[in-house]
Amino acid sequence: MYQIKIEQPGDGPEIETLLDQSFGSDRLQRAAYRLRDDNAPVAELCFVLRGGTLLCASIRYWPIMIADQHPALLLGPLAVGQAWRGRSLGKTLIRHSLARANILGHDAVLLVGDVDYYRPFGFSTALTGNLSLPNPVEPGRFQGCELVPGALDGLSGPVEPAGRG
Ligand SMILES: CC(C)(COP(=O)(O)OP(=O)(O)OC[C@H]1O[C@@H](n2cnc3c(N)ncnc32)[C@H](O)[C@@H]1OP(=O)(O)O)[C@@H](O)C(=O)NCCC(=O)NCCS
Repeated sequence: MYQIKIEQPGDGPEIETLLDQSFGSDRLQRAAYRLRDDNAPVAELCFVLRGGTLLCASIRYWPIMIADQHPALLLGPLAVGQAWRGRSLGKTLIRHSLARANILGHDAVLLVGDVDYYRPFGFSTALTGNLSLPNPVEPGRFQGCELVPGALDGLSGPVEPAGRG
């Protein structure tokens, strides 16, 4: 009944509505968006989940550079429509997209989000202790996940958008 598909340009307006409803219309002020300014999403890792024709959920990823030397991904936003929450759709989209990211050769993912939600997928604040974002974020929400064990070992420095020219 549910189908996961790569996000298409025509999905944009529905996704924007979902994101406004999920995060509020001031969401663009959030610190994680500073890594999305002057950046472009990783098209092959942006997915929508539909139930029939209805958009139920969306996930996006962005290219980032850690400490001027290590390419990685920023996950977010992830949103599940209010009516579809608690049915494992968020979990399904995360697992699907992380598996795909691994297949495509990415080795690490960062995000700003709720630690209790993301811990089961392998995210931890312990992996971002030496990394800094362009803007301060609430303590305890900046997390990393290694798709390849040790990928974030020894990295220290700023995290920046990787889509800038
Ligand atoms: C957070 C959100 C994506 C969860 O989507 P969902 O489809 O309802 O989540 P799932 O059903 O896949 O839940 C997976 C697990 O996380 C738990 N969970 C759900 N929301 C959670 C939260 N906010 N904090 C901690 N755990 C949470 C569920 O109980 C479930 O646990 P289980 O596997 O033991 O049963 C959704 O509520 C949402 O879009 N919220 C608004 C936007 C948002 O906060 N996005 C996340 C960015 S940090």
